[in-house]
Amino acid sequence: MENIMRFDTVNLDDGEGALVIIDQTKLPNEVELLHLSKQEDIHNAIYRLQVRGAPAIGVAAAIGLYLAAKEIDAECWEDFYRRLKQAAYYLASARPTAVNLFWALDRMEKAACKNRALAIPDIKNALRDEALRIRDEDIRVCRAIGEHGLTLLKDGDGVLTHCNAGQLAATRYGTALAPIHLGRERGMNFRVFTDETRPLLQGARLSAFELVADGVDTTLICDNMASQVLKNGWVDIIFVGCDRVAANGDAANKIGTSGLAILAKHYGVPFYVCAPSSTVDMATERGSDIVIEQRPAEEVTELWYERRMAPEGVKVYNPAFDVTDNALITGFVTEAGILRAPFTENFRRLKGAEGKE
Ligand code: MRU
Repeated sequence: MENIMRFDTVNLDDGEGALVIIDQTKLPNEVELLHLSKQEDIHNAIYRLQVRGAPAIGVAAAIGLYLAAKEIDAECWEDFYRRLKQAAYYLASARPTAVNLFWALDRMEKAACKNRALAIPDIKNALRDEALRIRDEDIRVCRAIGEHGLTLLKDGDGVLTHCNAGQLAATRYGTALAPIHLGRERGMNFRVFTDETRPLLQGARLSAFELVADGVDTTLICDNMASQVLKNGWVDIIFVGCDRVAANGDAANKIGTSGLAILAKHYGVPFYVCAPSSTVDMATERGSDIVIEQRPAEEVTELWYERRMAPEGVKVYNPAFDVTDNALITGFVTEAGILRAPFTENFRRLKGAEGKE
């Protein structure tokens, strides 16, 4: 089996003028790299989840915006900036929930503005440098999340995770799976339970794939089995990722996460959200302010099945994310350490310290 840990999930081929991603819709059966140059293809890759996971979407959008900038034929800054903003607006419309998408595009726009006095080709170079900086920071930040998360684990622990917040959801390591991958590098072993994660099966197709490839003792369960697994006492800790954390600590993540947090409280299992500080959105006061992406009904009724598995005419509710109440979260594992309540105060310190507010 291909060890996915050898690949960067998102990359730039500057010579070719392409965003290079692993097509996650083909996993686990095929490891296929896509080279995307057209803005429409990059937008669709994000919408169709060929590249997915909050940090990976952010890096892909930054590289995508650089590629758009490269193609802009403008004489003056005003014209260049107007067209850059149009391109950013288009990429931002691909998915609404993961704040990293908007965060990365905003960083790119700021980098352009900061260099507005330069000649247009030099502004384009500055945008390439910023996109690569965002990518390199992502790798460093995820590794640091892994280091902090690892302090919560001991060899042989049982870990439950939901969706995929691993290497495939970032450039390397991931967030929720970073402690596992880092532990593996150091010869540790864990027993990881991964929820299948209906309807798009990120747990079965992606987390199970990258964990097995990394030699981790991995058990796949359907989402509705988590309660039994917790009751059996097989899980010492739950690690999940996150798409947007509101200022009060409410956290949006893949649909099913909040149910898991409720189960964790019931069975007394610590529930940690692993997220880079870029996922904390101080401009969003509480979870109910987070826009939740609604996806097509076919993902529930037809996808993966040989034949449709629900009657025509049935109504379908298919939110891609839910919001876990802050009271259910034991702590946030960030690149700066593990943050516990009071969340707002600690997030302010985190964002302030890094000048990111
Ligand atoms: O719809 P997806 O697959 O993009 O959802 C991804 C998740 O919910 C992840 O847990 C989240 O983005 C964190 S990734 C480090």
